[in-house]
Amino acid sequence: MKKIKERPHAVMFPYPLQGHVIPFVNLALKLASNGFTITFINTDSVHHQISRSRGLHLDHDVFLESRQHGLDIRYATLTDGFPLAFDRSLHHDQFFEGIMHVFPAHVDDLLARITTLDPTINTIIADTFYVWPSSLARKYNLLNVSFFTEPALVITSYYHVHLLKENRHFASSAGNRSDAIEYIPGVKSIATADLPSYLQEEGDLNTTVHRIIDRCFKDAKKADFMLCNTVEAFEQDTIAALRQIQPFYAIGPVFDKNRISTSLWAESDCAAWLDSKPRGSVLYISFGSYAHTSKHVIEEVANGLLLSGVHFIWVLRPDIVSSEHPEVLPVGFERRVEGSGLIVPWCDQIEVISHPSVGGFLTHCGWNSILESIKCGVPLICYPLLTDQFTNRKLVVDDLKIGINLCDKKSTPTRKGVAERVNYLMRSQEIRQQIKEVGKILVDAMGVDGSSVVNFNQFVEDLTTKIAAIKGSLVKDD
Ligand SMILES: *[C@@H]1O[C@H](CO)[C@@H](O)[C@H](O)[C@H]1NC(C)=O
Ligand SMILES: *[C@@H]1O[C@H](CO)[C@@H](O)[C@H](O)[C@H]1NC(C)=O
Ligand SMILES: *[C@@H]1O[C@H](CO)[C@@H](O)[C@H](O)[C@H]1NC(C)=O
Repeated sequence: MKKIKERPHAVMFPYPLQGHVIPFVNLALKLASNGFTITFINTDSVHHQISRSRGLHLDHDVFLESRQHGLDIRYATLTDGFPLAFDRSLHHDQFFEGIMHVFPAHVDDLLARITTLDPTINTIIADTFYVWPSSLARKYNLLNVSFFTEPALVITSYYHVHLLKENRHFASSAGNRSDAIEYIPGVKSIATADLPSYLQEEGDLNTTVHRIIDRCFKDAKKADFMLCNTVEAFEQDTIAALRQIQPFYAIGPVFDKNRISTSLWAESDCAAWLDSKPRGSVLYISFGSYAHTSKHVIEEVANGLLLSGVHFIWVLRPDIVSSEHPEVLPVGFERRVEGSGLIVPWCDQIEVISHPSVGGFLTHCGWNSILESIKCGVPLICYPLLTDQFTNRKLVVDDLKIGINLCDKKSTPTRKGVAERVNYLMRSQEIRQQIKEVGKILVDAMGVDGSSVVNFNQFVEDLTTKIAAIKGSLVKDD
């Protein structure tokens, strides 16, 4: 008799937001390329948006081509509890209440169905921001893997909220301290203004998002394995400290050669426009897929760009201020920048920033954007808007030194300041050199014997061993 290892079959649940779907899809491809069977679940709403953005029929399958290339990735969709026409961006809190309270019941139903139909399922890989993975994993006797799509510094901030409270850096009725935080394991020092936004708020701490965060990180600490889309060398001490809490694997960035487009919006083609511009002359501007900002900020950035005189591509989502107010640019702006500036609702970001004409990236500091920019060697100007973006900014500007701030923390950009900062960044050889070097570290991590590859392989081995321990079937030797 000998013990055989069961093949991992993971059901994957990305959070229904663009910035989470992208790394989840890449992780699915990576796992399937390493012998996993994957059942990938998108919400109906995300699926519908992906199909619509690419003009595809609704019953298309995101992974069809991957299967034709021999990967065992199955694809299914599931309701998030709201009708397709519901405006999730406009009704943010209502949507997230549903994700917290209604969606888990649908996941439960789905797991009941598919684990009965297919007993080879042995693992759940869910986004860390879900509140239900460990309890549903236990119910269906599945291993639970949490995938965190943001840096380790962010997860450790959330994991140590109790310390922040004890030390009066957060939520203290006796008054909140504003000096640096120097007691989070593996974090030498972090300013309160660099914590995730939800950990620096004054006032109501019982918002929808606070309640999600309160529950999901307690749940995540219990996960059997934690995967993180970061690079070991970027956050060595933080990661070492997190390994004391649970098996923790820095496997980022989970880019995949065979990119699958899971864009939620139709993409404008910027290639011809970029081809017509000199090397390194174009500033790329995007505030990501999710965050909102004010009309005032948009106006200051617009006027700052005019003053700076640089070429730019600006991704301006129609709902950047609110889906009810799509007109946000100063009157006549588009006419005034004709030829030097291109404004698009959405684009293929990697394609744009890997173009040689692009020389800088004004970003809201979403973690995917930062990783992509490091990979492409494009220096950053940071204007974080919410959630982990403040913490990511610290990594970019203070730790890795691959970018600058658009304005002082907690202040609003002015047109003059924008022009100065933009011109400074576009001319700085020092930052350009530094991001190239950090880019080498990132590429090395993804290469043969690189830390992310080693960590990924270790995860696969540890998971397979644990599956065998739990489900381990005994079979006769041949
Ligand atoms: C995660 O899954 C494993 C395997 O079913 C289980 O033993 C463990 O208790 C789960 N973790 C939690 C917190 O439920
Ligand atoms: C400290 O901050 C919390 C929110 O984090 C707030 O509820 C509380 O009132 C603040 N304490 C004081 C004394 O201002
Ligand atoms: C927080 O909000 C929820 C939902 O609105 C409510 O049920 C709960 O009682 C509140 N908790 C506190 C401590 O105020």
